[in-house]
Amino acid sequence: MSLRPVHRVERFLKSVFSVAPSSEQIQWATQFLTPAEQKLFLRMPSVDQSHCIGVARAVAAHLDQVGLTEFDPEAVWVIAAALLHDVGKSVSGLGTYGRVVATISEALGGSEMGVHWAERTGMTRKVGLYLQYPQLGADLLSLAESDDRVVAWAVEHHLPQEQWSLPLDCALLLQKGDDGRLAKR
Ligand SMILES: [Fe+2]
Ligand SMILES: [Fe+2]
Repeated sequence: MSLRPVHRVERFLKSVFSVAPSSEQIQWATQFLTPAEQKLFLRMPSVDQSHCIGVARAVAAHLDQVGLTEFDPEAVWVIAAALLHDVGKSVSGLGTYGRVVATISEALGGSEMGVHWAERTGMTRKVGLYLQYPQLGADLLSLAESDDRVVAWAVEHHLPQEQWSLPLDCALLLQKGDDGRLAKR
């Protein structure tokens, strides 16, 4: 599994300059989440909340690409998937510095090292957990009894397209949103 280094560097640069989401943004986001999902969302570091709200807003503005609108009940899981795809990052408790260490360690040691590092202690463990965040996010979301598709996107969003289980049009929309490839509307 690769976490797309270029995407990670870009994300990191954004994280250094990002601001916490406004209360209006949080309010907008939570309307698409169940009470259990809201708890998980509110536990995310504000940098991840801002990123996920940005992705979800972009996805919501382009739902016509999958034949939906923001007010369509069928769109709720798509927006929730965008809001929660990085929720596993909160498990590691890594801040900006630790995320840089994790990104570099992955580049040096390979993503498979994450499993070994997670069995260690201290910073090494945190880095190991961070590298496994897609699976940890999916585990949190299954415990929260999220829609299966929301759980699936958390674990699949950095996997190659052939390994996706979601409807392809929705998954592509979610990926474009995550990569900042949806035009502003
Ligand atoms: Fe991610
Ligand atoms: Fe993301």
